[in-house]
Amino acid sequence: MAKPEYDRTSELKAFDETKAGVKGIVDAGIKQVPRIFHHPPDEFQKNSSVSDDGIPVSIPVIDLEGLREDPGTRRKIVDKVKSASESFGFFQVVNHGIPVSVLEEMKDGVLRFFEQDLEAKKKFFTRDYSSKSVVYNSNFDLYSSPAANWRDTLFSFMAPNPPMPEELPEVSRDIMMEYSNQVMQLGYLLFELLSEALGLQPNHLKDMDCAKGLAMLSHYYPACPQPELTLGTTKHSDNDFLTVLLQDHIGGLQVLHESQWVDVPPTPGALVINIGDFLQLISNDAFKSVEHRVVANSAGPRVSVACFFSTVLLADSRTYGPIKELLSEENPPKYREITISEYVEYYQAKGLDGTSALLHFKL
Ligand code: OGA
Ligand code: NI
Repeated sequence: MAKPEYDRTSELKAFDETKAGVKGIVDAGIKQVPRIFHHPPDEFQKNSSVSDDGIPVSIPVIDLEGLREDPGTRRKIVDKVKSASESFGFFQVVNHGIPVSVLEEMKDGVLRFFEQDLEAKKKFFTRDYSSKSVVYNSNFDLYSSPAANWRDTLFSFMAPNPPMPEELPEVSRDIMMEYSNQVMQLGYLLFELLSEALGLQPNHLKDMDCAKGLAMLSHYYPACPQPELTLGTTKHSDNDFLTVLLQDHIGGLQVLHESQWVDVPPTPGALVINIGDFLQLISNDAFKSVEHRVVANSAGPRVSVACFFSTVLLADSRTYGPIKELLSEENPPKYREITISEYVEYYQAKGLDGTSALLHFKL
């Protein structure tokens, strides 16, 4: 890589010390994207939405209607979940049981948090995740990643030990609690479907505690004056079992599929579901934790809420490796047994640099 001809570290620090995030840059009326946010050009093609054989490529939308009532419908849904998890690692769900009013209020809550008075927002600003249970900052990996993202984030664990209501931002407290409870319910259901899709008993993944811990990341992607120079989120895969993502109408989320970026189009009322690194590991690569990114946009702000199912907070010594029931002579384990905290430490230290942390744990 070429030697940087500017003092990157001091520019990062100056930006960090404003505690105003990327929104602060935009509010200051700056019309050029600062260098710390410049990304090198990407090696992959923007999606043409058509695969090599000419068939349109799109992320499946799975209707969960009738799941509980009809075993035949459930089997069909499980088949769809299986094929989406094996190929795209992504799908959207509709009729998932979370009311549209809750989704709308959640997005409004994110806007209220980021667009409130800076002084109120600053109270949540830190890079020390052990000092506060609710953390606001911009770029968790600001000092370790090669290029910063055009995005600010509010982070909180919501299960198994949610913060006390008074620790949550006043402007979004109620909806954060309500929404995360609903996502937990949906998570139980999704882990049942994913267990069945792997050919296991419905409770298998829940019994492994996959649904026990939830971290909530509310992202705010301000409108960008030069969106082609930067990214909302660098290419990455998620360091969790499963992610439930709520995105607004702006768009910009893209999934890497057969070396092409495929859009995940905003779909009213839908939630985006994706397989995370841990689920790829315990399924011994049956399910794919697929890389994705968010392009910067000039139409924003865009908001999204990513709910990560992860047991990192349980900080237990439980180890995870490929599920024994899935292994055979033809399917030997591809990963070593690891603790979730071991994984997350490695992921955080590496930062979003465009490579997968999973490779580090391959046998
Ligand atoms: C993430 C993520 C996508 C989005 O938080 O890991 O990929 O649309 N978010 O914000
Ligand atoms: Ni992600």
